[in-house]
Amino acid sequence: MKSLAIRNLSKTYFDAYAAAHVTAVRDVSLEVKEGEFVAIVGPSGCGKTTILNMIAGFIPPSAGEILVDGRAVKGPGPDRGVVFQSHALFPWKTVLENVAFGPKMRGLPRPEREAIAREYIALAGLSHAADRYPNELSGGMQQRVGVARALANHPDVLLMDEPFASVDAQTRMTLQEELTRIWQERRPTILFITHDVGEAVFLADRVVVLSKGRVLKEIDIDLPRPRRWDALIEDDRFKTLSGQVLQLVRSA
Ligand SMILES: Nc1ncnc2c1ncn2[C@@H]1O[C@H](COP(=O)(O)OP(=O)(O)OP(=O)(O)O)[C@@H](O)[C@H]1O
Ligand SMILES: [Mg+2]
Repeated sequence: MKSLAIRNLSKTYFDAYAAAHVTAVRDVSLEVKEGEFVAIVGPSGCGKTTILNMIAGFIPPSAGEILVDGRAVKGPGPDRGVVFQSHALFPWKTVLENVAFGPKMRGLPRPEREAIAREYIALAGLSHAADRYPNELSGGMQQRVGVARALANHPDVLLMDEPFASVDAQTRMTLQEELTRIWQERRPTILFITHDVGEAVFLADRVVVLSKGRVLKEIDIDLPRPRRWDALIEDDRFKTLSGQVLQLVRSA
């Protein structure tokens, strides 16, 4: 696992409907240290996905640079794993085959790649479903496969864009607890994007509030781990921090 740094990143789109340029991201600098869990939170349209897509290498920045462990990145690469809101699993492959796909692309022989896949499937609590197809799983299970698949590639940095937004509230809380458990066990470097203030504060070591394409403020989340919703929901420090972040997001 490695560090991630973005320096003076900007992105201007051409909006064909308005026939004008729109600056979605302005001069954003940010660091995620090795093994750190950072969340970016902000209202719809503030540029969160644009930042993530630039880091993933899916779209080029208009200005600025992106460094993974000090090396400038251009274009997508296996050093950055991505988990989207919709899981994007291969529907014709089983859970095991989906998770083993990255290791297969890396050229690992079948026994090795299946061993890696089974390890991450177990970590995601899905051993019983390894031979099922995605359409035989619940939405929450599909998202867990998405996380397992990203981790099985051993990325330096895990990029997550609202990965739990499409599941129900109870499942989302379980997935958040599981993600923090997996993170504590493996300590991947994570940049997690969400518009949900509670989710950001629950998950992260640090929350970055984004407003109109700029960093408004960074807040350290000094809550102890492991974090569990039944304890935190009553916790004064959690309430204070969530309140602080919410104020910032609402003023954004
Ligand atoms: N391909 C594009 N062409 C033109 N404008 C774009 C394009 N993609 C995004 N934008 C604009 O850039 C801004 C930021 O979009 P972005 O998707 O990064 O926001 P977001 O913070 O992820 O929002 P949400 O929470 O709704 O997902 C918006 O104003 C959007 O309309
Ligand atoms: Mg988005």
